Amino acid sequence: MISVRNLVKHYGEVKAVNGISFTIRKGEITGLLGPNGAGKTTTLRILTGYLQPTSGIVSVDEFLVDENPIEIKKRIGYLPESAPLYPDMMVYDFLQFMADIRQIYDKEKIKDIAIQCGITEVMHKNINELSKGYKQRVGLAQAILHDPEILILDEPTNGLDPNQIVEIRDLIKELGKEKTVILSTHILQEVEATCNRVIIIDKGAIVADDSTSELKSASGKDIRINCIIGGVTFDAIQDALKNLQGIKLVQHIRDAGQLCHIQILTEASVDLRPAVFNCIKDNGWTLYEMTREYRSLEHVFRELTVGV
Ligand SMILES: Nc1ncnc2c1ncn2[C@@H]1O[C@H](COP(=O)(O)OP(=O)(O)OP(=O)(O)O)[C@@H](O)[C@H]1O
Ligand SMILES: [Mg+2]
Repeated sequence: MISVRNLVKHYGEVKAVNGISFTIRKGEITGLLGPNGAGKTTTLRILTGYLQPTSGIVSVDEFLVDENPIEIKKRIGYLPESAPLYPDMMVYDFLQFMADIRQIYDKEKIKDIAIQCGITEVMHKNINELSKGYKQRVGLAQAILHDPEILILDEPTNGLDPNQIVEIRDLIKELGKEKTVILSTHILQEVEATCNRVIIIDKGAIVADDSTSELKSASGKDIRINCIIGGVTFDAIQDALKNLQGIKLVQHIRDAGQLCHIQILTEASVDLRPAVFNCIKDNGWTLYEMTREYRSLEHVFRELTVGV
């Protein structure tokens, strides 16, 4: 378990991180989402022990990051913003070098990790000959070489083409089956595609922390339910529904032949779909369609970080 309490980091006048707290449970794939300059990299650097916070407490299991840097580094695999590779080295030599530094003597380990990260065919190429996608794979390979329980990835798909992005996301998802993963990104689709939890940060502070699906459906001020109902006028529907508790507004979208399209706005805290269904049924009308409108994560993100 990773615990971050009241984390603050100031670079001189710049308040990069401003009192962030969160807990990451084992097995979660968490996206740290935020616009440029939000404080993602700073937070991840502090988590991995590469940067001292101005104040705050970060711990992994029972170890404090500032007091037990070796224990922390054993548990964490880190892929920084630009993959830390030596371009003149051959991939195999680079991984062997990293294995030596970390005192990993199992010869099979590099082979296994090469298979897992899909780099066996480039093991004898120089790193500077590799495409960005393959470089990122090598970066991931070095991050998992010592078999850490936690993977921290700073913008892992940044600068990759769409095919490479899909491949790296698949690899991260695969790794996430065994490991706790925290990745930073400013790409919403990344979080939707890869993560089961999202922490949105803006100007050094957390503005949302929820499961990806909950954030999409519940973080808004209201929920929209669209219905198509037959055998009734809009006025009659409005009259019947307005008595249900939790309904804020019933809007007429259009009439199509005998069918009336409506949209119902309800408070975010209640799911009124069963009550709406029962009301329609009790009145003897016919329900042709009922859908709940899910807001895109993009919508939520803009609302939280730009306010629109
Ligand atoms: N070494 C540094 N010295 C001074 N200011 C810094 C330093 N590193 C980051 N900052 C500032 O701290 C703030 C947060 O930066 P950080 O790199 O953590 O953001 P980020 O969310 O990772 O952004 P990006 O999406 O662009 O990578 C920014 O205002 C940045 O300019
Ligand atoms: Mg960054």
